[in-house]
Formats: sequence, C-alpha cells, structure tokens
Amino acid sequence: MPHTPSPNSDPMPNIQGFIFDLDGVLTDTAELHYQAWQKLADEEGIPFNQQANEALRGVSRRASLMHIIGDRPYSEAQIEEMMERKNRCYVESIQNMTSKDLLPGAIALLDELRQAGIKIGIGSASKNARTVIERLGIADKVDAIADGYSVQQPKPAPDLFLYVAKQLGLEPAQSVVVEDAAAGVEAALAGGMWAVGFGPTERVGAAHIVLPSLEGVKWADLRAKFSNIARQKHSGSKS
Ligand code: BG6
Ligand code: MG
Repeated sequence: MPHTPSPNSDPMPNIQGFIFDLDGVLTDTAELHYQAWQKLADEEGIPFNQQANEALRGVSRRASLMHIIGDRPYSEAQIEEMMERKNRCYVESIQNMTSKDLLPGAIALLDELRQAGIKIGIGSASKNARTVIERLGIADKVDAIADGYSVQQPKPAPDLFLYVAKQLGLEPAQSVVVEDAAAGVEAALAGGMWAVGFGPTERVGAAHIVLPSLEGVKWADLRAKFSNIARQKHSGSKS
C-alpha cells in the first residue's frame, strides 16, 4: 500500500490547504442559528436556552431538531414543517448580511493563505452555506465548497472534510481544518487532518491548536506550531 502521510506519523507537515468551517468560524451565524431554534422552541413550548444550544454547534438541521424535541411524539410531517419554519427564520436573518459580518481576522488570514499559495476550502454542514458565502463576498477567495447537500454522513463523520480535500486535490494530512464545534474537530481528526479549534478548550480542546479567535493569526505561526507538534509526535513515537 502507498504510504499515506498522517498528522501522527510525519516529522514535517506538508500543509497545502485550509478547510474552514463557516458558521461560527468565518462569521457569527452560530448565533443566528441559535436564535432561530430558540424561536421555534418557544413557539412549540419546548424548554431550550443558549446553554442547550451548545450541543447543536455544527450539527445538521434534522439532528439539531431531534435533539431539541427529544422523545416528544412529533410526526414526520410535523418534523418537516418545524425544520422549514426554523429555516425560514434563519434565512430571513441572513438577508442583510455583508462582508462586515466576517469575524475579525478572517479576511486577513484568507488573503495571507492565498498569497502563500495555500488552497482554501469551506466545509459547512449548512444547506445555506453558499448564500452566506456570497453575502460575505468571499466566494472568489475559495477554491472548493462542500455544504449540507454534499455528503450523506454529517459531522462528526469525516466525509464532508474529505470531500473538500479531494476537491482541492489534497491528502487529508496536507489539510488543516478550522472549526468551532466539537463535532467538527472530531470530524477533522477522524479524517486524519490537522485541526485548529476556534473557541474555548472545553469545546474544541481535542484540536491540535486551540485559538480564542482568528484575529492576528498568521500562517507562519500556525505552520511553526504544526511543525513542533509533528516533531514531538515523531520523536515520541520513536522512543
Ligand atoms: C452548521 C451549523 O454549520 O449548519 C448548525 O453550525 C446548523 O448550527 C447546520 O444546524 C445546518 O444548517 P442549515 O442552514 O442547513 O440548517
Ligand atoms: Mg461551526
């Protein structure tokens, strides 16, 4: 079998691409998804709050709804109607989105990566990802997009990120995933990719690197950190 490089075995990573999650990483749509779910839960009289919403970060629309309704006996037709209702509310909330809604540091990092010849992909569980990308004005900075229509298995399965890596023509170990959700970090690691977690350690601590935000993040610093991690793992695996 050909040698497949992996973040765990190669001394020097050969990173050629970055795959960004969208909601909660490049823009704060995580909050808008939350508000739409909260409205639906309130309308249905189901207890829900911001803390409960944490479990839904990066989770598909259907799986999110199932989590919210628990074992309440809704029919499939009612489930479909509720998913549509939530989505209408969410779609309305992204109508006025512009490049101003990019999170701090996002555009600077995208531009720096592009200048360094690094390929850029977006891997989002959202069926609205393309609309959000257009509204943010970053479509021309991205080489590949996978969204809620691209694969069957949602995160934490690695399928979505593997799909983007393939579109970029890269091996998993040549790819870095930037994620704000535990399920997304899990998906990246399951796919044999490098993972940058964006947010608190309690949520994304499993990632190779954890960052509080993208502000001031430089490609050279990230590359140095990945090289250090790879070196440590390599010397650890030999001893
Ligand atoms: C993810 C979000 O990116 O997309 C989740 O983090 C959301 O909150 C999921 O549920 C699906 O989005 P959509 O737009 O297809 O309902
Ligand atoms: Mg996210």
